[in-house]
Amino acid sequence: MSGKSEESLRAEIEVGRVAGEKALASATDLETLKSAKQSHLGEKSAIAKMSQSLGSLDASLKAPIGKVLGEARNHLNELFDRRLAELTLQRDREVIESERVDVTLPLRRNPQGGIHPLTLIDQEIADIFIGLGYRVMEGPELESAWLNFDALNIPADHPARTMQDTFFIEPIESNLVLRTHTSPTQIRTMLTQDPPIYVICPGRTFRSDELDATHTPVFSQVEGLVVDEGISMADLKGTLDYFAKQIFGEDVVARLRPSYFPFTEPSAEVDIFFNGRWIEWGGCGMVNPRVLETCGIDTAKYSGFAFGMGLERTLMVRHQVTDIRAIVEGDLRFTRRFGMGGR
Ligand code: PHE
Repeated sequence: MSGKSEESLRAEIEVGRVAGEKALASATDLETLKSAKQSHLGEKSAIAKMSQSLGSLDASLKAPIGKVLGEARNHLNELFDRRLAELTLQRDREVIESERVDVTLPLRRNPQGGIHPLTLIDQEIADIFIGLGYRVMEGPELESAWLNFDALNIPADHPARTMQDTFFIEPIESNLVLRTHTSPTQIRTMLTQDPPIYVICPGRTFRSDELDATHTPVFSQVEGLVVDEGISMADLKGTLDYFAKQIFGEDVVARLRPSYFPFTEPSAEVDIFFNGRWIEWGGCGMVNPRVLETCGIDTAKYSGFAFGMGLERTLMVRHQVTDIRAIVEGDLRFTRRFGMGGR
């Protein structure tokens, strides 16, 4: 550096200052800002080198050149600090933006599953009768025609056989049907257990009806069967009154209306007085002694009663459902009321 004129030294410093200014100002991220500082203010930068060899200058130049160098260094340092603050702020903003979560966005709610209303009422009925000391019996949906009909006093040529439109299973000689009621489960119970018998038989049943507002080829029943000593129609009526109150409310009573079923004698329809009118709920009667005898039960000692209700019908009456398809087709607008399918 020695031997150079003051002007050329000043010009050299100016070049270093301008280059540094440009590099610092044009840095667009913290990384390039740091390397710009390294090249224009670091140990190997032109300005640092000139500062290091200041001692070799003519005595008259040391003070003015030293001052100009100091100013250039300070200027570049200030510029670096300002740019550092700006770029740090910018980096922070970018991080915050990229990590932003919009808490107001609507959630994708996954609908919650639930228990179907038919299953709920099935469980409710089981609870009622278990509370009375009954047991729950289940039987197969594919049933022998003998258990579904003959044992229940419905012989092949009996007109009652056509009361229930039956799905027969091929080949016809198999003598299998889709059970038209859950009564064959009562036969199964009486064939395998000795009295006293207190059971309910819930389950799916089948009849070859077209699906419309009041019919469905697949539906559900619950039947009750009691066989014990001294069982009378009064026990049946008391049991049905209690059952009706549990399902429909304390002020509801049952009414028996004379009817006919081959497997009960006498037989009756069960009506309930609900929402200001009598509504048919199911069938009932004293178990026909012929049915008890078929099952090997001593009719001199034992008598019994039986009743049967449709579960869909029970739900429809209780919840004012006018179309049975709402229950069997799984329409969420219906099942939601029973806690299924989320919102
Ligand atoms: N099994 C009859 C039906 O499905 C209902 C019933 C059961 C009637 C028990 C009387 C006694 O139609």
